Amino acid sequence: MKKLLLVTSSVREGRIADKIAAKVQEHLSTYPDYEVTVADFKTMPLPFFDAPMSPAAEGFEATDPNVIKWTAMVKESDAVVMLVAEYNYSFTAVLKNAIDWMAKPWNDKPIALIGYGWVGGAKAIAALRIVLGSLISAKPLETEANLRFMQEIDLEGNVTDEEATNTAIKTTLEELKLTLG
Ligand SMILES: Cc1cc2nc3c(=O)[nH]c(=O)nc-3n(C[C@H](O)[C@H](O)[C@H](O)COP(=O)(O)O)c2cc1C
Repeated sequence: MKKLLLVTSSVREGRIADKIAAKVQEHLSTYPDYEVTVADFKTMPLPFFDAPMSPAAEGFEATDPNVIKWTAMVKESDAVVMLVAEYNYSFTAVLKNAIDWMAKPWNDKPIALIGYGWVGGAKAIAALRIVLGSLISAKPLETEANLRFMQEIDLEGNVTDEEATNTAIKTTLEELKLTLG
């Protein structure tokens, strides 16, 4: 079994992240070797990073119970699937804060990126790739899924082009499968 962590990046009321997550879960359920856990910062809110030292520093230890839980989720996963909402041409502050709470557990972690928005979250993912490639050295996959408003999905997050949506998600998850071996 491979442990996959599905991470949502929006906590706003009425978020479409839930519908995107349901669609991605549908795909993940077709892989019999995957055991999927969801990390949702709406139900597992994290404090804004306020630790006295960097998580990259020797001796760093989280004290907040949700940060401890979130860190364990990433540590124990074989790969992470991030659902990337685009806010002001970038990924959400919620996701950035979550990433900042740890360093080592990200090292070499394969990350599949599924964006949504007017350009399919492409700008958000471009910004996120820089962060994932920083000192934390995660391994974002080459392929990414971009679900675009008025094309693959509507503004409520409903799939309007089933074939294009399935292809985009499947292509990304297939690269992940190859990476996991
Ligand atoms: C603060 C804010 C900024 C946004 N900026 C962008 C943007 O730069 N590009 C984009 O495609 N959509 C943008 N949107 C629209 C979001 O893509 C849309 O609200 C989407 O539903 C957000 O995902 P969520 O519902 O899961 O939070 C923005 C939305 C908010 C709330």
